[in-house]
Amino acid sequence: VYEVIRVYGGRAFLLPEHLDRLARSAGGIRLEVPMETGPLASAVEDLIARGRLDCGMVYLQLTRGRAPRNHVFPRARPTLLFYLRELPPPPPTGGEAVRLLSVADERWRNCWIKSIALLPNVLAKNRAVEAGCDEAVFIEEGRVSECSASNFFAVAKGTLITAPAGEKVLGGITRAAILEEARRLGVKVEERSPGEAEARAADELFIASTTREISHVVGWDGKPAGGGRCGPLTRRLHKSLRRRIESAQARRR
Ligand SMILES: Cc1ncc(COP(=O)(O)O)c(C=O)c1O
Repeated sequence: VYEVIRVYGGRAFLLPEHLDRLARSAGGIRLEVPMETGPLASAVEDLIARGRLDCGMVYLQLTRGRAPRNHVFPRARPTLLFYLRELPPPPPTGGEAVRLLSVADERWRNCWIKSIALLPNVLAKNRAVEAGCDEAVFIEEGRVSECSASNFFAVAKGTLITAPAGEKVLGGITRAAILEEARRLGVKVEERSPGEAEARAADELFIASTTREISHVVGWDGKPAGGGRCGPLTRRLHKSLRRRIESAQARRR
């Protein structure tokens, strides 16, 4: 299992939330995180400080450890590793303009586990890129679940709609932060999988993840979508998320 944590201004953003999800994912595959949350959080912050990373990410991975190949869980000591990577400065409000390609959802029913077994996601993403798109959007039985490496949001008549985290949707940390911001702003939120036709006709569409923050959707399967621009609620939610990022940085200085 793994985590990707954003670093802004030399600080890990939403670190407790990421470490909670790591513990849930590990529990989902019957693996224990070999460190308590407090010391692990300190070790991550310490690496960021020692690496003098200002803007970037931490990649953290937990596996069962080194052992001869076998399907049976080994008695090995789990391997927990994390490293830093620099990333470009945050995107402007509304983020990149992205185009989506629909791909049938062939994944298992435990997508809430943030597992490194990402083959269907990788194949879907590559099909999207080969078709001149930026992200693959998974569709199952006429409903939109999420994208290959991001959560999917639609805005219809001022209501924010996104699929509930669970079998087919990862509980994105950015997704949760956006939903909190939306509720705080008094925006109506519906956690349900939007129908494909409903999503294609939505007033605004965006995708969200730790590394991209928010990207607005302008095209889908070669046709305009999401109004073909960054919509007003998308912009407002991204501004609100950015304020939260900035206040987290200020608080921890
Ligand atoms: C399948 C999938 N859904 C959603 C997300 C977004 O999650 P987060 O906001 O925690 O980065 C990711 C992130 O990589 C992902 O791989």
